[in-house]
Amino acid sequence: MAASTANPETDNNPVLASSQLIKQGAEAKIYRGVFMGRPCIAKQRFKKKYRHPTLDAKLTNKRIVQEVRSILRCRKQGITTPTVFFVDQENQCIYMEDIQDSVTVRDFIRRLQKSTSPDDQTALQELADKIGSVLASMHSCDIIHGDLTTSNMLLRQPESSSPLILIDFGLSQISTLHEDKGVDLYVLERAFLSTHPNTEELFERVLKVYGQSYKKSADVLKKLEDVRQRGRKRVMIG
Ligand SMILES: Nc1ncnc2c1ncn2[C@@H]1O[C@H](COP(=O)(O)OP(=O)(O)OP(=O)(O)O)[C@@H](O)[C@H]1O
Ligand SMILES: [Mg+2]
Repeated sequence: MAASTANPETDNNPVLASSQLIKQGAEAKIYRGVFMGRPCIAKQRFKKKYRHPTLDAKLTNKRIVQEVRSILRCRKQGITTPTVFFVDQENQCIYMEDIQDSVTVRDFIRRLQKSTSPDDQTALQELADKIGSVLASMHSCDIIHGDLTTSNMLLRQPESSSPLILIDFGLSQISTLHEDKGVDLYVLERAFLSTHPNTEELFERVLKVYGQSYKKSADVLKKLEDVRQRGRKRVMIG
């Protein structure tokens, strides 16, 4: 595996030093490498220079704890997430299973939307059903993802037989409140419709299956409507 360039964050870390940087987000660097012989993704949250160091360390650690806790809770519920191999709190890094040859739901939807084949249209609907049912399962055990987007959902290939794999739980929390679940759905709705134009019907299907699969969904969907209206008012008032 190609060695990354000289970098004080990775050079004293044998796993990261032999890994490849695949993505640099606003909060974390994502590396692909090998951890004890297993293909791994290392997610290293970096220091924010503009934040007081003590506060920065506290917030970063909170994110790491939230991420790992929610991944484990999801797995207990039967929701597919990457296996966590190791948490290095000192270096603010999580080592987890690399979902190899995976595609993001974002890329998969884009690909299907370009196609006119009826099979691909069916695949889109089946995907919406999968998303609705996994979110219902996640909310039924009170996990709020906090950053639901189609980039934070993966599928293995072949996509049609893959379970939906949820990632990126750094903003997650545990809450029984319908409001928090409604906001979680609202975040996804905004991200979904802006990333994938003309998918209103598809997203309706996500919500329909969510509604059918979760006992308390009526309360959550009512909150979702409240949150939408607040959003509209904010836009009108400016
Ligand atoms: N366990 C994994 N297996 C395979 N790919 C992964 C895994 N974790 C992350 N990725 C890839 O890296 C990307 C970024 O990961 P993640 O969402 O956890 O980090 P992020 O910094 O929060 O990114 P973003 O700001 O885009 O949300 C994912 O969209 C996915 O393509
Ligand atoms: Mg992400």
